[in-house]
Amino acid sequence: MLKSARIAVFVSGGGTNLQALLDAQRDGKIPHGEIALVISSQACAYALERAEKANVPAHTVPSSLIQHDFEAAIELLLEQYKIDVIVLAGFLSILSENFTKKWPRRILNIHPSLIPSFCGRGMYGLKVHEAALARGVKVTGATVHFVNEIPDGGEIILQKAVEIEEGDTPETLQRRVMEQAEWKLLPRAAELVCRAITEEEN
Ligand code: GRF
Repeated sequence: MLKSARIAVFVSGGGTNLQALLDAQRDGKIPHGEIALVISSQACAYALERAEKANVPAHTVPSSLIQHDFEAAIELLLEQYKIDVIVLAGFLSILSENFTKKWPRRILNIHPSLIPSFCGRGMYGLKVHEAALARGVKVTGATVHFVNEIPDGGEIILQKAVEIEEGDTPETLQRRVMEQAEWKLLPRAAELVCRAITEEEN
């Protein structure tokens, strides 16, 4: 009987999306999931400090490893911590098809645009907001989607629109998309997927 799905959060940087998940869990908003592990691709990621403060086990698997060893080390940790769901939260490494095909509809990613706009290989972080401003769109937002072998190409789970304001810079726009969309969508999507998993396994 699966009481709740065990979540691993993959990070690479500041970890504000990880923090949104931790805060949501603290506030009882992810009743069907439990954040059981954090894996960072960067040893210096501030996200690791956020995990430590929340007493969540955290490990670094350096992105400098060759892809096979990188993914083998990750898979070992996922097995050790009995993980059911993976959430990519500001995770900057690409996962191979060999990895993702073992986790169908079990890997979620937050992308800072309304997919299919401004996404795909090379589109991450500030680059996404620079492209949105350069194109002159009036509305952008964030998307949570399942991860498959196509970068940002998996089934869309949730989206939320955010207005672009006069004078926005990539930095001010990134902050608004995080505050108004990313940090709200990711915990909601995690709960939706964890609830579906616990229901299908019981
Ligand atoms: C942000 O641009 C976010 O949109 C993307 O990764 C970046 C850093 O996120 N998913 P975080 O603060 O490390 O969660």
